[in-house]
Amino acid sequence: MLPRLMSSEYTYQIAAVNPIGAARSTPPPPLLRYTVAMKYDLPSGVTLDEGRGGWPRVSVATDLCTAELYLHGAHLCHWQPRSHPRPVLWMSRASRFETGAPIRGGVPICFPWFGPNAAAPEAPVHGIVRLGEWTLEGAEVERDGTAVIRLSWPSDAGSRASAPAEVALAYEVRLGDALSMALTVANLAAAALTFEEALHTYFAVSDVRQVGVEGLAGAIFVDKTDGGTRKAQDDAVITISREPDRLYVNTPATLTLTDPGFGRRIRVAKMGSLTSVVWNPWIAKSRAMSDFGDDEWPGMICLETANAAENAVTLPPAAGHTMTAVVSLLGLSGSS
Ligand code: BG6
Repeated sequence: MLPRLMSSEYTYQIAAVNPIGAARSTPPPPLLRYTVAMKYDLPSGVTLDEGRGGWPRVSVATDLCTAELYLHGAHLCHWQPRSHPRPVLWMSRASRFETGAPIRGGVPICFPWFGPNAAAPEAPVHGIVRLGEWTLEGAEVERDGTAVIRLSWPSDAGSRASAPAEVALAYEVRLGDALSMALTVANLAAAALTFEEALHTYFAVSDVRQVGVEGLAGAIFVDKTDGGTRKAQDDAVITISREPDRLYVNTPATLTLTDPGFGRRIRVAKMGSLTSVVWNPWIAKSRAMSDFGDDEWPGMICLETANAAENAVTLPPAAGHTMTAVVSLLGLSGSS
């Protein structure tokens, strides 16, 4: 029996898990790890195809934007409004597309913990949901041209076994002139559930040393490059001249990333989030990461919409929580 995706609209065959010889008269090409079969009954402008590593990928090409989202980790790897000359998200050319590894760049989803798991140091950094396949629940293109992709997790018995007891995640990505990402966590258990989460967004920049981040003046941050020391953000504009690895806590503020080299500002508004993370690996950490090119660090900055540290969310039984990030582009003078 093949796993079903999106009711009866099409069937998705995962060759790695399901030997599909019985279902096909000819075997799949040797490098084809996943096979998209049957009908592509998706709206015009949205396709389900094979991406890097043979992984299933939702590709969007509408009047408003182009985008790519992998079912692995529900990972958005690309978004570019048609009105804009370059991609908004950064992807490492060294990213792995391998089972058990996260994708480097785009928007990884961190859940149910952020960073290392203090109680289980051997557990994967940033949780488990960026490492496994999500289920595509639906896709549509709205009247104004916005493509909406919906996914859910856990998707299979394996991820269900590794999930915190009776939790369900829903992820809605809205792709148009703006990008909206909404992660909903539902606690289906009889006990309260506490978790951390992040939409770990990598933005492409002309040169991280030339950009400025606004919106966090007066906020307190945990400086992970200084043993977790807490500091106050004094400067209104954050500039980067060494590795920043900062968790700004108790802040719902909208961030603005000004990039004169690319002639744009990126605005990140958020709902249901009290933590913002600012990160760039700089020189030494880039070299230490096997899935990050040594010379790539100037071209990216992570501005992450999160709930971490003291902003971890506690959900009572039968409750849900949604965290949303809305990314939009502005010109340097403020116009879109
Ligand atoms: C950031 C963390 O969010 O993610 C950093 O604050 C970490 O400490 C970075 O290095 C990347 O993490 P990973 O697991 O994707 O290499």
